[in-house]
Amino acid sequence: MTKTCVIPEPLLAALRDAQHLCILTGAGVSAESGVPTFREAQDGLWADYDPLQLATPEGFLDNPELVWRWYRWRRELVAKAQPNAAHIAIAELASIVPQLTLVTQNVDNLHQRAGSHQAIEFHGNLFIDRCFDCALEGSADPQQDVPRCESCGGKLRPGVVWFGEAIPEDAMNQSFAAASDCGVFMAIGTSSLVQPAAGLADVAAASGALTVEINPDPVRRGFDVVLDFEAGTAIPHIVDMLGR
Ligand code: OAD
Repeated sequence: MTKTCVIPEPLLAALRDAQHLCILTGAGVSAESGVPTFREAQDGLWADYDPLQLATPEGFLDNPELVWRWYRWRRELVAKAQPNAAHIAIAELASIVPQLTLVTQNVDNLHQRAGSHQAIEFHGNLFIDRCFDCALEGSADPQQDVPRCESCGGKLRPGVVWFGEAIPEDAMNQSFAAASDCGVFMAIGTSSLVQPAAGLADVAAASGALTVEINPDPVRRGFDVVLDFEAGTAIPHIVDMLGR
């Protein structure tokens, strides 16, 4: 029997009152677009692939051909995917609340394609190429197994943040400023296991925001409100209720 998604009245009231809503999204938001998450036991990417080989600077230097093959495969996969009801509803929220800050750990561009052009890319972007040595952005030649930087000849790499690397400074500052300023903070489709992104919820809570988790398999880590539904069900429903 399917559960009915009921949005608690105190959450709707807080959203109606809030001057600033901050949303953190993770891989679960793109799951309904057919993009695999990272940590789910059956189809999570890290069940089949080794993050140390594919998502660290050391892994890249060890075998750049392998890393490029994997990221080209992911680029093709997400380029074919379409934004789903959750991406679209999050973009709609921007015109409902006075201020929305969207922070995404996703590198797949699906929020942007749904109309959230101001999304803060906390973990970079899958479709950017940049030089491993001089950090200049380039454009990878698809003919080259390991494309090269036009400026210094170094190896180009995908513009995503790997384990052990720093979050881009602007993304970090803007995200933590938003978390400490917002009235409502929502963590949607994330396992909340990867820092520093997971710490945004703690900063929001410490600053007095109502914290909300939307996840069919909730992490239950002290959020004030937990909606155990898929993002593509819960968020359009919230938008619908706020619009009334
Ligand atoms: P995870 O794979 O760790 O977690 C995905 C979460 O989405 C899980 O808690 C699922 O229960 C939930 N989920 C699945 N389907 C959902 C749906 N339809 N609606 C809502 N939630 C759903 O992904 P992240 O938390 O994003 O980092 O992982 C964080 C970071 O770890 C990623 O950005 C990536 C990864 O290693 C880098 O690549 C640097």
